[in-house]
Amino acid sequence: MAKYIVENSGPLEGTLTISGSKNAVLPLMAASVLTDEKCVICDTPALRDVDVMCALIGSIGGSVQFHEQTNQVELETRNILLEGAPSELAQKMRASVLIMGPLLARTGKAKIALPGGCAIGARPIDLHLKGFQALGAEVIMKQDANFDYVEARAQKLVGSDIYLDFPSVGATENLMMVACMAQGVSTIQNAAEEPEIVDLANFLNKMGARVKGAGTDTIRIEGVPKLKGTKHVVIPDRIETGTFMAAAAITRGRIKLENAVADHVRPVILKLRECGVAVEEDDDFIVVDARGSQLKATNIKTLPYPGFPTDMQSQFMTLLLTAKGKSTIIETVFENRFMHVAQLNKMGARIKYEDRRASIEGPKQLKGAKVSATDLRAGAALVLAGLAASGTTEIDEIYHIERGYERFIEKMRAVGANIRMEG
Ligand code: UD1
Repeated sequence: MAKYIVENSGPLEGTLTISGSKNAVLPLMAASVLTDEKCVICDTPALRDVDVMCALIGSIGGSVQFHEQTNQVELETRNILLEGAPSELAQKMRASVLIMGPLLARTGKAKIALPGGCAIGARPIDLHLKGFQALGAEVIMKQDANFDYVEARAQKLVGSDIYLDFPSVGATENLMMVACMAQGVSTIQNAAEEPEIVDLANFLNKMGARVKGAGTDTIRIEGVPKLKGTKHVVIPDRIETGTFMAAAAITRGRIKLENAVADHVRPVILKLRECGVAVEEDDDFIVVDARGSQLKATNIKTLPYPGFPTDMQSQFMTLLLTAKGKSTIIETVFENRFMHVAQLNKMGARIKYEDRRASIEGPKQLKGAKVSATDLRAGAALVLAGLAASGTTEIDEIYHIERGYERFIEKMRAVGANIRMEG
């Protein structure tokens, strides 16, 4: 099994270009199924999750060409050949559920095996399904020997007012895509406000949809009978941005990040400053400079956007291990997102946690150990810990990391990280 070998690396220094956003491109690719015309998405990151979405769209009859050299993906689903996605693919990635909305909108039918992905909590899809029902679909749960399925069917989709009990990113995206083609006006209240939602709304509007209010908690969608193909450049990945910002801070280095949107990582910038890290920003770059800094402890509470992102929680935990004093992290978005704690503790971290609250005492000199990437962002946090630890850190289950970071090792090495892949 492939693993990463990470050695203490000293201050990381240099310039990196941020890739297109994984979490933005997956719904855009799914949205391409809403039309029989061709869609082109530029800056698509070459990632395992993107490959899974390519395979999913291919499996229902779409033609997908991903030019990895130019990061451009061309998608054209002239005819839908299958109403559902193969169960093995859906199990590989939770974002597979995003194909349900477009399939339902385009053909009146959608079936999917209950999705997999990172094991960070129960992660139900009840809000997606309740929304489909509000828009006129019937939802049926099915089972065979291997999988649980969910099927949605509708003779006619009709606009409706939907209130989300929680501002779920995936549910907001799925429901926006269905409502685009439902008859009449829909509103999504308590909608997610993430930049990925705004990117999807922009993409849908270029396809001819009428979506207003994306980026606020109320989205208004006027249904249209048909959508057309379009070309779009995906937004930069704010979690990749945040991860490299944390890497610079943890190693007391200086990294300039190009193609980075400071507004999308505002809480991360402000928390870094609170810890004593200098962060400079401009229209499309961010410079993090922690050379010679003594970092201070701080408290973090993860929240839906514009709050502190849950996808940056584990990387910040590693950072706070290098800061002086007692820090607390409260995770409010997912109920089981502290799996990295046990791994960091193997490296000498001594983090205590109960329920959704973790206490971190710093600074701690971490020691290299054999650890496992239990999920995507936890894996990134362990790489960051390995950079600051004494000795050698061996990380397995790295396929999780490769699901979400484009050319991760290459980029890390470009700023001086001592990391290599083995096996
Ligand atoms: C997306 C991101 C993921 C990020 C998360 C929160 C993608 C591909 N993934 O995931 O990286 O960590 O947003 O920022 O964009 N929930 C329900 N019922 C539902 C849907 C969600 O209870 O029907 C709960 C989840 O269990 C979780 C919380 O809502 O506790 C947030 O989930 P959600 O915002 O839906 O996350 P995803 O869209 O899966």
